[in-house]
Amino acid sequence: MQKDIIYVGVKDEKIRLFEGQFYVPEGMLYNSYVIVDEKIAVMDSVEAGFANEWIDNVKKVLGDKTPDYLVISHMEPDHSGSIVKFVERYPTATIVGNDKTFSMMTAFYGEINANKLVVKNGETLVLGKHSLLFTFAPMVHWPEVMVSYDAYAKTLFSADAFGKFGTDLTTNDWACEARRYYFGIIGKFGAQVQGLIKKLAAFEIDTVCPLHGPVLEGDLTYYLGLYDVWSQYRAESRGVAIVYVSVYGNTEKAALLLKDELEAAGVETEAFDLNDCDFAEAIEGAFEFDRLVVAATTYNGDVFPKMREFLAALVERNYRNRVVGMIENGSWAPQAGKVMTALLESCKELTFINSRCTLRSGLKDENKEEIKAMAKELESF
Ligand code: FEO
Repeated sequence: MQKDIIYVGVKDEKIRLFEGQFYVPEGMLYNSYVIVDEKIAVMDSVEAGFANEWIDNVKKVLGDKTPDYLVISHMEPDHSGSIVKFVERYPTATIVGNDKTFSMMTAFYGEINANKLVVKNGETLVLGKHSLLFTFAPMVHWPEVMVSYDAYAKTLFSADAFGKFGTDLTTNDWACEARRYYFGIIGKFGAQVQGLIKKLAAFEIDTVCPLHGPVLEGDLTYYLGLYDVWSQYRAESRGVAIVYVSVYGNTEKAALLLKDELEAAGVETEAFDLNDCDFAEAIEGAFEFDRLVVAATTYNGDVFPKMREFLAALVERNYRNRVVGMIENGSWAPQAGKVMTALLESCKELTFINSRCTLRSGLKDENKEEIKAMAKELESF
């Protein structure tokens, strides 16, 4: 990162559930940056509980100087929560945002008594050598989102895009938590991410400064490539995700037998137990691989609730373009397969395999044969 762009973000090591639902055992970073030039711009604020720490970080960089601008890329409170404190500390600074930014700001925090600069898509704010070209990126992740491109520093301030869970400021094993973050939080908005990627092609970018996770520098092909694959709903890896939920262990036996059969045939396979795993990991797995098997028991004439919730999460995120197989269980009237098929009905470009395993309580020899047939068919894709 250029020496006159300084990181002033904070580390939230206490948070356990990001956005109230995503398990973040390593915590979360709320990133913010200061650009020091003839004019000084602070890029985004942080979650409310970290306002004092963040303002101290800004003060450490600026000393007695006063920032001219606070640029707001995204109004979700993990970033906008400290705007009011910032205005109290720096009342002469101008808040920069777009029309939607300011209506959301009022909705969250009431009328803020500060100078405001409303920018339009494609407008530039000159700081000196540095300048910020604002590009609107609606629904990556909220409607008001805009990214800022600093042509002098070849730096993109990317809002939530290219963010990840965790507090690691290095890019080690970046994709793992970036993928879970992407499909958990932005996954529904693939078309909008594609729109942003197309706009970014016009910029020469050496550095990406996201609002979560590490700064990305150097050859960005890897990161841009993954975002391109993810947002087109293409599979990143060949392999099978088996997502199962089992009440007394019989459905699990069938799911794990399928895993063994596939692995014996050299097919990469990952199994996710919805009763035991992080739900977002299972969603990530379904999107990472080109094939998915769902395995669930029948429950109250329906599918077991956790599987219903999982499939709804896939549908909500526009799950598509995958091969799907099913294992169902039902002691007296198996319905799970039928219900799971109906739940996935609205997904585009799904290929359902012909073979299916239907258990009626325990795993019988005929079920083992069904599993073998499923493995063979899945291998053939
Ligand atoms: Fe990191 Fe959509 O907020």
